[in-house]
Formats: sequence, C-alpha cells, structure tokens
Amino acid sequence: MYNFLKSILFLLSPEAAHEFALKSLSIVLRFPILGNWIRKSFQPIKAQPAVVAGITFPNTIGLAAGFDKNAKWLHLLKDLGFGHVEIGTVTPVAQPGNPAPRLFRLPQDNALINRMGFNNDGIDAVVERLKNRPAGLVVGGNIGKNKITPNEQAANDYTTAFDKIYDYVDYLVVNISSPNTPGLRDLQEDEFICDLFAKLHVIRTEKRIWKPIFLKIAPDFKQSQVHTLIDTIKKAKVDGVIATNTTIDRSNLNTSQAKIEKIGAGGLSGKPVYESSNTILGFLAMELGGQIPLIGVGGVFTKEDYEGKLSRGASLVQVYTGFVYVGPRIVRKILS
Ligand SMILES: Cc1cc2nc3c(=O)[nH]c(=O)nc-3n(C[C@H](O)[C@H](O)[C@H](O)COP(=O)(O)O)c2cc1C
Repeated sequence: MYNFLKSILFLLSPEAAHEFALKSLSIVLRFPILGNWIRKSFQPIKAQPAVVAGITFPNTIGLAAGFDKNAKWLHLLKDLGFGHVEIGTVTPVAQPGNPAPRLFRLPQDNALINRMGFNNDGIDAVVERLKNRPAGLVVGGNIGKNKITPNEQAANDYTTAFDKIYDYVDYLVVNISSPNTPGLRDLQEDEFICDLFAKLHVIRTEKRIWKPIFLKIAPDFKQSQVHTLIDTIKKAKVDGVIATNTTIDRSNLNTSQAKIEKIGAGGLSGKPVYESSNTILGFLAMELGGQIPLIGVGGVFTKEDYEGKLSRGASLVQVYTGFVYVGPRIVRKILS
C-alpha cells in the first residue's frame, strides 16, 4: 500500500511530500472508526518499554531530530507508534534555513541529501506548542545555534535555548554535528564541549527536575579523533550520546556522480550512513563500556538494521530516512 502511495508522493518535491503526507494522515485519523482502525494498525505488537537515562521510554524506537523540527506533529507521530520524538533542531530565534531546493532523494541509494540549515520557528513558538504535547510520548529537545551567531558566542545560543525548553521536554540534545550550519562542526572540540556542558549543568541545578543532556555527534570522525572525543564526553559529564548525524562523505554511492555534483553540499542520510554510524557507535560502546547510554541513528530501515544498532551497544534507536522510504508502519515492522 505504502509503495503505491510512495510512487505518488515521490512525484512531489521532498518538502511538499513531507507536508502533504503528514496533513493527509492527520485528516484520515480524525475519522472515528477508520481512524481508530488505522491507528491500531500502526502500533507495534511486541513493544517493550525501556528505562534509559532515568526515563521510561514506551518502546525503543524514536523519530530522529529534523522531522518534526517545530513540534507540530507530536500527536500524529505518537499514533504511528514512535516511543519518542526528538523535536528540533530549534534555535533561539526563528530562521528560514537555506533557500530551496535543499532536500533531495537518492532512491538508488535509499538515501536523502539535505542542507535545510536549521529552518525552525524559534524556541518561543516551539515551547508554546510543547505545552500541548501528548501524554505517553517521550519528547527530546534538540537545540542549536542561529546561523548568524558567530562561534565565539555560540554557547549563549545553546544556554538560551536550553533554559527555555528545559521544562517542556524529557531530555535535551546539544547538536553540534549538522553539516549545514557553517562552522558548526568546528564546535565538536574539547574546550567548547566542556565549557558548554559546565554551563548547562549550572542551569540544570537551578531547575526543579533533573533531566539528561545528550550530545549528538557526526559520523565523519577518524579513529584518532574518536578517542579524543570519548575523553571529552567523559570530562564534560555528557549523559548520553546520539550517534550519528548525517555524513558529508559521498563515497560508494549508486547514484551517478553527475547527479551528486548537481545536488551539491549537504548531509547524506539513510542506508549509506549505516556502516559509518555503526562504527562510531561500536567505538563509543567499547570505550564507554555502558557508563552512559547510547542512541543509535543512521540508516535504519529494517528489524535487522535495528538489531545491528542494539548489538553494537545502543539502548535506543532512531529513524528518519527509513521512515520516508519504508513508510508510516516502520515502527510496527521493526518491533513486531
Ligand atoms: C531532512 C533532514 C533534516 C534533518 N535535520 C536535523 C536537525 O535539524 N537536527 C539534527 O540533529 N539532525 C537532523 N537530521 C539528521 C537526522 O536526525 C539523523 O541523525 C540522520 O538523518 C541519520 O539518520 P537516518 O539515516 O535514519 O536518516 C536531519 C536529517 C534529514 C534527512
């Protein structure tokens, strides 16, 4: 059924298809009998709750950041069976992101390339929406810096967004690994991470409830860099790592070189990132030895992909590109 719908959706631009699919699905789910039947058909059959970083997740599959940047679709995404949804990346001030086209399909590789550039409604608008978040869904808040903020002032953007969103989400994510904000990945270094987490810990002590703060990392590290990163993660007292974001690597693709060049810059996601994100995940698991939880993301389409992340040490798994290609029953397919 989804294969048929996908052939229609893939006639639209990726961004138009995203909006159209979500709007249509939420309208269909409003019909009482049909809606309930469809809703039931999305729910995983053998979902096991999991306690990770002190939070009880209804199941171990979540929707990765970037799909619901503005917390607009949380009720619908809960109906599709996701145990958690990571909203964002949200920045302190609303920004339009990069000019379109900025999202491209690579069907021959089961992949996407995006250079969205943190298009989002800004932290205040997102917090307003989070006040009506559905019960029974874990929500993570993924935060970033505005494009116009220079790296020297980046920490202020993170602390501002963190402080404002803290009370409305269950966990927080520092995203310094998107390739689409110029210079952002330069922040993946010891001094910045340690200073920033120290500041976030101070803010957290002033809050009523303790919540975990995760770090989302890129898949494009060399082995020697991963060792430094692991030291930093320990020093900065990061509560968990999300591995990984999209890659800038373009090797071993089936899509023609001409098409890849025409698309241009951006982060590659989906099947081609599976192995590289698993490699990093495996390193982290080996070096951190269960000291902090790991969330595996990158190229998960099937139950086997999901189990591959768990076997490398992930406690939770997230999907994004797999959701686009496999369709709205992906959680049920993986967990049943
Ligand atoms: C269109 C698009 C937008 C994304 N936006 C964000 C984002 O705003 N913040 C973030 O941390 N990751 C973002 N990501 C990365 C995903 O969360 C995920 O880490 C990555 O796509 C790898 O997973 P996948 O292969 O299942 O897609 C985005 C990915 C895509 C495809």
